[in-house]
Amino acid sequence: MRCTGLLLFPLLISHAVKALDNGLALTPIMGWLHWARFMCNVDCVADPDNCISERLFMQMADVMVKEGWRDAGYEYVCLDDCWPSRRRDASGGLQADPARFPGGIKRLADYVHSKGLKLGIYSDVGAETCAGYPGSLDHYEKDAQTFADWGVDLLKFDGCNMKWTRLAEGYRNMSRALNATGSRMVYSCEWPLYEWDFHKPNYTAVRETCNQWRNYADVYDSWSSVKSIAEWTALHQDAVAPWAGPGGWNDPDMLVIGNYGLSHDQQESQMALWALMAAPLLMSNDLRSLCPRAKALLQNRRVIAINQDPLGRQGYRTATLGSFEVWERPLSNRVLAVAVRNKQEIGGPQKLPIVKVPGWRTCGSLCNVTQILPQYKELGVQRQRTDLAVAVNPSGVVLLTFHPILD
Ligand code: GLA
Repeated sequence: MRCTGLLLFPLLISHAVKALDNGLALTPIMGWLHWARFMCNVDCVADPDNCISERLFMQMADVMVKEGWRDAGYEYVCLDDCWPSRRRDASGGLQADPARFPGGIKRLADYVHSKGLKLGIYSDVGAETCAGYPGSLDHYEKDAQTFADWGVDLLKFDGCNMKWTRLAEGYRNMSRALNATGSRMVYSCEWPLYEWDFHKPNYTAVRETCNQWRNYADVYDSWSSVKSIAEWTALHQDAVAPWAGPGGWNDPDMLVIGNYGLSHDQQESQMALWALMAAPLLMSNDLRSLCPRAKALLQNRRVIAINQDPLGRQGYRTATLGSFEVWERPLSNRVLAVAVRNKQEIGGPQKLPIVKVPGWRTCGSLCNVTQILPQYKELGVQRQRTDLAVAVNPSGVVLLTFHPILD
């Protein structure tokens, strides 16, 4: 058994002071992003309901309002790759594909804003996007101004097709260009992801430049993908977690809950882990036809409250005990959120006595324990020597909060 949580937390240094100074993303942003579910489907003749078109984004915006997503906090409706025309316009500006976005992005932004939501767009620091559409290299000022003129609220800036030694300069220049427009846009970067292959990124610079940043590979609609993101984050937690805080966040990529690849237990694991990692909650699924269980999980107010905790500290993996893994995140008012995962992918639920949870002793002698996932359950006031145990399903999670009670 490795038990470092108790000793680690008081010593952890938070680097959360120097964030990008645009006043945005004071808690991780929440919204919807098209990539993992709709990818680069541009065939609106064969597949009008699922192609990357203004219709798709308008329908998502409608559903976000009608079905309680906006009220739950999901605010950003985001375009990913494959939205633009293959060619810039006569004045060198980016333009949306005219057949798929006949009204243009400004009209789409107006529509999204009329619903009380925000619009995100996508471009690339290099000459082309990852899917081969025009990138922003040599056009940073022009593109930043275009996005501002359209009323865009967020830019996801990819890092394909750029020499890694030029990433820092490119990402910083775009950050300055966005700032110079006077419009407030969340700046979502992939800069560290494209640098990790060569060296450890300079997170001081990343945090000063971006509101959120990807560190690791793209999420896929599979448990192996979600697991590998959690594992990468745990293995690199001392390098990345201290940089998270109001204004700037590590981005482990989209929530794939509600698609095809994860069991319900695995979906709960992704939701719990993303909450403990203080991750942006960007769903990529089809909100028009989501199963009720996935919807209830994504709209679970108690899990969202953990993700959105104003203290803004990212959680850590604090122990591995046999097939169990424990993650802890300190919240405001000395509350501790704890996720207990069962990594064994065979058999039935496994029991872990709560006294074995590393953070348990930080409660003092008395603690009010609440189970948030899989079902809400008040586990009552527990003493140090409690015999309470949690049962965790294979590849599932139990998410708890510990409220200390002062003696
Ligand atoms: C990269 C990014 C993804 C997505 C695709 C689009 O792979 O990491 O999130 O934006 O490009 O082409």
